[in-house]
Amino acid sequence: MAQQNSISKSDKSFEEHQSQTPKEKVVLAYSGGLDTSVCIKWLIENYNLDVVAVVGDVGQEHQGLEAVKAKALASGALDCLVVDMRQAFVEEYLKPALAANALYENKYPLVSALSRPLICKHLVDVAHKVGASYIAHGCTGKGNDQVRFESSILMLDPTLTILAPVRDWDLHSREEEMMWATEHGISVPTTQASPYSIDDNLWGRAIECGVLEDPWAEPPADIYTMTTSPQDAPDQPTYLSISFEAGVPCALDDIEMSYLKIIEKVNIIAGENGFGRLDMIENRLVGVKSRECYECPAALTIITAHKALEDLCLERNVLHHKLALEQLWANCVYDGQWFSPLKEALDAFMAHTQQCLTGTIMLKLYKGSCTVVGRKSAYSLYDFGLATYGLDDKFDQKAAAGFIELHALSCKVWAKNRLEMGADMHPLSSKVDTVCEFENNN
Ligand code: ARG
Repeated sequence: MAQQNSISKSDKSFEEHQSQTPKEKVVLAYSGGLDTSVCIKWLIENYNLDVVAVVGDVGQEHQGLEAVKAKALASGALDCLVVDMRQAFVEEYLKPALAANALYENKYPLVSALSRPLICKHLVDVAHKVGASYIAHGCTGKGNDQVRFESSILMLDPTLTILAPVRDWDLHSREEEMMWATEHGISVPTTQASPYSIDDNLWGRAIECGVLEDPWAEPPADIYTMTTSPQDAPDQPTYLSISFEAGVPCALDDIEMSYLKIIEKVNIIAGENGFGRLDMIENRLVGVKSRECYECPAALTIITAHKALEDLCLERNVLHHKLALEQLWANCVYDGQWFSPLKEALDAFMAHTQQCLTGTIMLKLYKGSCTVVGRKSAYSLYDFGLATYGLDDKFDQKAAAGFIELHALSCKVWAKNRLEMGADMHPLSSKVDTVCEFENNN
């Protein structure tokens, strides 16, 4: 036995043994870009692993995923699986995101943050199927995505080991990386590669790096591919109605279609009208403020309509508490906690609020704006008799006096006490005096 296990490199049977012993496997999240292509070779060289690449179709722009697969194989991967994740992305990720009107820091609809846990689910699944104990990703050590990949993978299978080549290798500049790639027979883009780092899917497109790192520099027009510049958008507004069934979009202009189809269509319609661009300073989880540009025509249009329907149909207290929990949901997902028990609990609350969210919202898209101009629902809590100032008024105005008396009572008691104790209860009085003086002077 002992003799069999001790094989030295000089031993004639070493090479034979190497070729017979199956190498351990690593499953790599692969995009087809330079970084992840270099990752393949690097994992083989530095860890002596067989690489199984996984490419997820989450609705990103591409020139054919078969070509991406061919590139993975040419870069040395043992296998490359192309998985169409779009339907699952819509059903399992974009539905809950809409229920939560998810906007990180009130602006960013979590484009990348939403796709990572889904990709991770597939990576873990493939790892189990091929018997891999390693998973690798191509994220840098400065961003949020590394946190999302690793947290999601560990929450799905804590026994897996994660490798992060781009974070660990010594290829510090793009030039060094390209040189390493050329030396190792990996095809490098001959044309000047885009200076931007881009991640996109059905929910939008994130663009960072290059000139955008200067927060004073206006984003160049050519960073955008999904949206027309508002100034070049049509001079006539486009009216678009979105109907919802239990909180999920189900029709555009009264034509029923799947949520996936709706997202695809709204990306085009809103994009043509120049709506959906964001240029923001964002607070990354790792403590860095970064300048991020996004274009998310469908996400922002659909969230606008969804919120308008909630305004109409949700009871006041539910709506107010939901607004606070929406922030929590967005932070949770931004921070890579998709599979956490908190996020699960928040989803249950969100789902409950969506049960009666059936109705239609009319939007007006015009030169970079998206305005709600109409809303209707069988579950509407808008009561004309209560709201009108006309003859049909059913609101008992006299009841308001007693309501206000009790509503303000505790603070009235407090104010009385503070006055008796000599507190200055009129911090605005100096301003009032100024106004009086001003009036006197005139
Ligand atoms: N800042 C965004 C986020 O953390 C987008 C990241 C996109 N990644 C990229 N390579 N451009 O969700």
